[in-house]
Amino acid sequence: MHAEIVVLPGDGIGPEVTHAAVQVLRAVARRHGHAFAFTQCLIGGAAIDATGQALPEDTLQRCREADAVLLGAVGGPKWSDPKAPVRPEQGLLAIRKALGLYANLRPVKPHPAAMGASPIKPHLLTGVDLVVVRELTGGVYFGQKTRTGSGASDLCEYTIEEIERVVRRACHLARTRRGHVVSVDKANVLETSRLWREVATRVAGSEFPDVTLEHQLVDSMAMHLLARPRDYDVIVTENMFGDILTDEASMLAGSLGLLPSASLGEGRVGLYEPIHGSAPDIAGRGIANPYAAILSAALLLRHSLGLEDEAGAIELAVSHALDAGTFTADLAAGDTAVGTRAATEAVLEHLLDTCYVAELRD
Ligand code: NAD
Ligand code: IPM
Ligand code: MN
Repeated sequence: MHAEIVVLPGDGIGPEVTHAAVQVLRAVARRHGHAFAFTQCLIGGAAIDATGQALPEDTLQRCREADAVLLGAVGGPKWSDPKAPVRPEQGLLAIRKALGLYANLRPVKPHPAAMGASPIKPHLLTGVDLVVVRELTGGVYFGQKTRTGSGASDLCEYTIEEIERVVRRACHLARTRRGHVVSVDKANVLETSRLWREVATRVAGSEFPDVTLEHQLVDSMAMHLLARPRDYDVIVTENMFGDILTDEASMLAGSLGLLPSASLGEGRVGLYEPIHGSAPDIAGRGIANPYAAILSAALLLRHSLGLEDEAGAIELAVSHALDAGTFTADLAAGDTAVGTRAATEAVLEHLLDTCYVAELRD
């Protein structure tokens, strides 16, 4: 298969982890006879430095023409002046919106070998397998922002259609899993949440009678997610709640550096990125965990290119690397930790092994 993949490294550890993911994709292409063409473009702080814009028109155009987009992370102290006219994060929000990527899938499945890195007791983590479907192009992130002499406001808005489509996506996903959706809101306070609950109930009830839907308020959800994570299958929620709950959920897996994501819409282009940020505190030191970015590349193969076997091979290779104790510093203390490069090489090694075994089997 031939595929055009746009790579947006971004800032901080973004270039370090996307480099790792591209190496893995190249290995997959070589091994399975695919031709992946990679085009690197600017976004975020790097784009602001070069062009003055967080999402240059050229980048967006190339993304529109691509089969898939792989992104690292954007942002950092250099561009964080509250008075700055443009911020790196605006580039990320703009690309999600422009490509219509309203559903952000964030799977969380703690790996037994990494459970030691989680602050949660192992017996609570065994068997956890959930996906958060985060609404990605609406809510308070995109509402009108106002600053006056005496205050500021961010408007939170949702339309019925925006809620319907993301709930549908979550219900479809639940059908391929354990058939259970929990919709998270703050309906006891927010009008947008009351609408969310009403629409979710109607969509699930009328279109997905085989899927069970429950509602949970976001504050208690933050607690239940850690107290009984095994009970969740698909969690669907609005933009900001999903952002916060998934960083929390990364502690089930053991590190932010382990969680990938897929941003999807009705269009053909998907965007794939680790859920973590640019990690300015460790950037440039070659110690970032590349697994979340590599697992995002696996999601890219699955969702945008339909290469399920290749996606599975990458996931298995990461799993083997973890089994072998190949941990970056976020997962292992002190001397035993390896750098980004060694972790990536471990994945490449296991990937080639797996492919070889698969070949022998055929
Ligand atoms: P962050 O996710 O960058 O970092 C939080 C903590 O997790 C840090 O201690 C960091 O070192 C660690 N961490 C994150 N990813 C890691 C990895 N792969 N390996 C090892 N450790 C890792 O969040 P933050 O510090 O709140 O934000 C820093 C910047 O990143 C901000 O400018 C923010 O806007 C931006 N950000 C961007 C994205 C994105 O581009 N998708 C996501 C989140 C934050
Ligand atoms: C994420 C990030 C972004 C978000 C920021 C950088 C705009 O935190 O992808 O989770 O909040 O969506
Ligand atoms: Mn986030």
